[in-house]
Amino acid sequence: MGSEFARLAALDAGSHMNTYSRKPVLFVSGRGMRLFDDGGREYLDFMSGIGTVNLGHSHPAVVEAVRDQIGKLTHITNLFHVEHRAELAAQIVDLFGGDARVFFGNSGAEAVEGAVKLARKWASIHKGPDSRNIVAAHRSFHGRTLASLAATGQPAKQEIFTPISPGFRHVEINDVAALEEALDDSVCAVLLEPVQGEGGVFPCTHEYLRAVREVCDARGILLIFDEVQCGIYRTGPVFAHQAAGARPDIMTLAKALGNGLPIGAVVARTPVAEAFVPGDHGSTFGGGPVICAAARANLDALMEERAGERATSSGAYLVAGLERLMLETNRIAEVRGVGLMVAFDLIEPGAVALVDQALADGFVLNSTSANTVRLLPPLCCTTAEIDQLMEYLQHAITEGRG
Ligand SMILES: Cc1ncc(COP(=O)(O)O)c(C=O)c1O
Repeated sequence: MGSEFARLAALDAGSHMNTYSRKPVLFVSGRGMRLFDDGGREYLDFMSGIGTVNLGHSHPAVVEAVRDQIGKLTHITNLFHVEHRAELAAQIVDLFGGDARVFFGNSGAEAVEGAVKLARKWASIHKGPDSRNIVAAHRSFHGRTLASLAATGQPAKQEIFTPISPGFRHVEINDVAALEEALDDSVCAVLLEPVQGEGGVFPCTHEYLRAVREVCDARGILLIFDEVQCGIYRTGPVFAHQAAGARPDIMTLAKALGNGLPIGAVVARTPVAEAFVPGDHGSTFGGGPVICAAARANLDALMEERAGERATSSGAYLVAGLERLMLETNRIAEVRGVGLMVAFDLIEPGAVALVDQALADGFVLNSTSANTVRLLPPLCCTTAEIDQLMEYLQHAITEGRG
């Protein structure tokens, strides 16, 4: 740990709100899968900024795009056309399968807020004024703003902040009957993460996603997929729902769309998107030329580097390694994963201790609960790097650090 760490940690404690317990390391640079601290020490990053730096740290294509655009024009508001915004929107529409429109904001929570507003505006036109409710899932996570928090199926995160936004109810995932029971004429949309991330990597089955699509169609209800964490090749296809063949009416994106730079997006099928007219929604910074240039370069590079195929094959390798570890150590209760969105549950609640020890030993991991360790490496992660982690975990878990 370098001396700069102590200075910044003290300054942070005396000046920044206490919303995160920060780890005792100061990362000052990164490249691909690797991070470097202020003492020059190297770490393998199996977290990628919580599933954000999918292309890897400081990718030259994104760096170059930002450098080029920021020197030309940084900001001009959404009242004007700018370079890169329309091209990025068209690129996303194309990846989504065509016939859609995009709205750009700055974060995942904002994208969810936009999706909720769009669903309610659409319902006010097509279903009547009383159809306002949204059915979401237990254990889901959709953000920290008051509506995205209300959508989040984790009461412990909500209670202290009541009254939060009304109009949300929650069901278990992978239970079609429970969903149908929750639907009535007051419901305008169903909101799901195809793979729940913050909840601890719990995938919706493909059958369930297709059944939910059919139920929504039969009842004239919108289907919203929150792909803020599972989108952008994290699970293999560019959007996780594509593996199930269940296309949503509205999709939210953020995190890896900018490879670490702030961007959020609401993507909607054109007939749904047309519910919004000027004045309904907006954002000062959303869709600015610098972030749109970065996101375009990011999407191009992810495609060129076949990030989706790498996520699928490296993810299978990682899950197989963890399953071997489960048999060998008897300390792991379950392994879950789709592509490079992976988690394992320890039998004992030692996830935080394991993550902290791993950081001290040069591996950046993440825990989503006392028992669950989540792995979200950049998609350029190699099998050799996974082997390094497996070797480490084998020792760490058997020596009881977990
Ligand atoms: C599925 C999902 N939706 C929304 C969010 C909120 O995103 P942000 O932190 O950018 O507001 C997250 C963040 O983890 C997420 O995983």
